[in-house]
Amino acid sequence: MAGAPFVIVLNDDGTYYLQVEPTSDALTILAARGVIFWGQKAIERRGVFHLVLSGGSTPKALYRLLATAPYAGQLTWERVHLWWGDERVVPSDHPDSNYKLAYEALIAAVPIPPANVHRVRTELGAAGAAAQYEAEIRSAFTLAPDSAIPCFDLILLGMGDDGHTASLFPATPALAERERLVVSQVVPGAHVPERITFTVPLINAADTVFFLVSGAGKADALRRVLLGAYRPEALPAQLIAPVRGKLFWMADAAAAAQVATGPGYPAEEFIYRRMANAGP
Ligand code: 6PG
Repeated sequence: MAGAPFVIVLNDDGTYYLQVEPTSDALTILAARGVIFWGQKAIERRGVFHLVLSGGSTPKALYRLLATAPYAGQLTWERVHLWWGDERVVPSDHPDSNYKLAYEALIAAVPIPPANVHRVRTELGAAGAAAQYEAEIRSAFTLAPDSAIPCFDLILLGMGDDGHTASLFPATPALAERERLVVSQVVPGAHVPERITFTVPLINAADTVFFLVSGAGKADALRRVLLGAYRPEALPAQLIAPVRGKLFWMADAAAAAQVATGPGYPAEEFIYRRMANAGP
């Protein structure tokens, strides 16, 4: 993943990184390369790549890029399974549907078998769709004997300017869920309040998690999430810390303006540390 002005590493176990790119276009290219890299690796090792998509505006450019040359030809799409880390409870052809966003930008343009596209069945209603999605996830994964939670190869996440990720919003019940893999909840004030979301244990069981953060509007939240006090009720993105996997934060310079500036920019090496085990 070359081309960054600098790479921000690392907490003491060496698993967290923030890579900053000068523009949102460069961020999109970095993310596309990352998806291809981890996808090829998963297919080589296990013959299948379980990729979890996010909603929001930032990933749209990534999905479009993955659908075009040279990236589209670098993944064996027959072996890719697509999932969604969260969904708005709207019909699948609604403009706010995360499935529709990915369908138009990516799925329609690549040879992925329809059976590999695991959209959330919002037509079942919020609770029904969450239960069905959890069952579908459980049946798609053969679990290792020491693990009760499926391990997705790569989960793509965004972050809202309030520190939410997936549909894990500040001070909502889903943050505390430890048993279920997928839950529904109503998030007052959110654009489309009825949501379905992966839970924290499911996300943190992943092999790899990418956060994509773009634009000046995210700068304050990114600083608070990465450098501020550990307050996950207020900043749910702080809950994301894969148990055995890797976590990559990827941001453009505008989003990273409050964490990655300084006299040494861009050569300064930057270290951040998240107190993942501290109390809320
Ligand atoms: C959703 C998203 C959400 C998103 C962030 C960032 O469905 O609302 O999955 O968690 O990733 O809000 O969104 P932007 O990329 O639009 O800033």
